[in-house]
Amino acid sequence: MYHSGIESPKGVWWKPAHGGEKVWAAIAFAWCIVLFAMMPLWHVRGGQNPAGIRHRVEPERYRERVTEFIQQYQVGEEKGIPVVAPPPGSHVYIQAQMWRWTPVLRLQQGVEYIVHLSSVDMNHGFNLYPLNINFQVVPGYDYGLKMTPSEPGEYKIICNEFCGVGHHLMVGKIIVEPRQAASLEGGAQ
Ligand code: CUA
Repeated sequence: MYHSGIESPKGVWWKPAHGGEKVWAAIAFAWCIVLFAMMPLWHVRGGQNPAGIRHRVEPERYRERVTEFIQQYQVGEEKGIPVVAPPPGSHVYIQAQMWRWTPVLRLQQGVEYIVHLSSVDMNHGFNLYPLNINFQVVPGYDYGLKMTPSEPGEYKIICNEFCGVGHHLMVGKIIVEPRQAASLEGGAQ
């Protein structure tokens, strides 16, 4: 039926709400409060916060630290990028730059590492694929993330912060070796 907008519509909206409607309004309100409380609770209990390890670093100094790290533990090379196998449980370093992640890391399953991230030029985005781990990689700051690889396999590091024409090519790699791999070293590859 056509209404001009001047006449009030026919209906029952001015009558008191039905009892069932009040119950639903109360449930919706209670749920709002639950979700509101989840925000601070999840911040504390969600296990999704960075480790809090961070400090300022000159990009050149970070580059030197990564070079030193590579020289210490390099075990090979893949497409011009050094492959590094650091000791289990150590501090490991990843350098972001246009348009690559250096080095390729070889980590052991089930061991906690502190993974340092920084950029030597501009903002990049660390996205560990196919897991849903995202972190900003900012020049001038060294962030340490605690990571315990739980599943062996090859993980890609995909840049998810636009960083120029080569942005889509900026893919790095983390290799996680199964727990017993150390004793099989030198075996069939
Ligand atoms: Cu680095 Cu996009």
